[in-house]
Amino acid sequence: MMTKKLILVFAALILVMATAAVAADVAFTGAAKCKMCHNKAKSGEQYAKWSESPHAGAFATLASDAAKAVATEKGLGDPQQAAECLKCHVTAYGVDAALLGKKYSVEEGVGCESCHGAGDDYDSNKIMKAITAGTTDGTTVGLTAIDEATCTGCHNDESPTFKGFDFAEYSAKIAHPIPEEHKATYK
Ligand code: HEC
Ligand code: HEC
Ligand code: HEC
Ligand code: HEC
Repeated sequence: MMTKKLILVFAALILVMATAAVAADVAFTGAAKCKMCHNKAKSGEQYAKWSESPHAGAFATLASDAAKAVATEKGLGDPQQAAECLKCHVTAYGVDAALLGKKYSVEEGVGCESCHGAGDDYDSNKIMKAITAGTTDGTTVGLTAIDEATCTGCHNDESPTFKGFDFAEYSAKIAHPIPEEHKATYK
């Protein structure tokens, strides 16, 4: 009897510790997780739109001859292995591997969470719907309030191929809004 109780106490303790560890930082769930709910035409098929944008190919770009030339000039080896390149060409670069979900992969390049923030605390149907309905403030569950600074963290002259950056013009190029008529169903 005594051992059974002890096991229960330990199990409870481990659960508390595990919850605390997760709460300390939020995990990146990966674009493939967002795809589960964000690929329907009526709600704006954000995943499909992002897939066709240059961001989805940002890791693949690092394998191109152009990328290798840039890296060689800087005295670097394989760009797909170089921190100096990966920091702007993949989601969550430098984040502890323990905080990367099963669906996360460097192959996604600049994924949803590069701009919207790590998803683990907001990517449930209930929370997401409440954010769109306006009853939950997304920023309290890790959804970033995106502004120009979100982009200029990567779109700056530290980029070896920097072409300049215009927030309005560039945002329009990657736009993937929820259609107004769908949004209205939440009001
Ligand atoms: C994590 C870094 C990162 C963030 C954050 C980021 N971008 Fe990018 N962006 C890139 C990279 C890398 C490329 C180049 C991808 C490629 O061509 O392989 C790119 C390319 C683009 C392009 C295509 C440019 C061209 O030459 O045609 C547009 C448009 C763009 N980004 C818009 C934005 C906007 C708007 C934001 C903010 C809302 C943003 N990006 C945030 C890294 C980022
Ligand atoms: C390069 C940055 C960037 C990436 C990558 C990105 N988004 Fe966005 N997203 C934005 C911006 C900017 C907006 C418009 C402003 C806003 O809603 O904050 C937006 C808007 C949205 C909206 C609509 C919000 C509304 O009110 O209409 C949804 C849903 C969304 N993104 C989901 C996704 C998903 C899912 C992915 C990945 C498949 C993704 N986004 C990738 C920057 C990005
Ligand atoms: C379990 C389903 C589900 C998953 C997984 C999910 N979402 Fe959502 N999300 C929704 C729903 C439902 C809405 C409400 C709008 C709609 O119907 O599309 C929404 C709304 C949003 C919005 C708009 C919030 C606003 O201000 O109106 C953004 C941005 C967003 N999601 C980003 C993401 C990103 C990024 C991921 C992955 C990290 C993700 N979502 C994963 C279901 C989901
Ligand atoms: C500060 C962020 C940042 C860093 C660091 C970075 N890139 Fe990029 N990269 C970008 C952005 C943003 C773009 C989109 C074009 C631009 O620079 O405006 C891009 C585009 C590219 C392109 C496509 C160029 C084109 O004309 O479409 C190549 C190739 C590239 N990067 C290679 C590299 C290599 C190799 C490294 C490492 C030596 C690197 N990048 C480091 C942000 C960065």
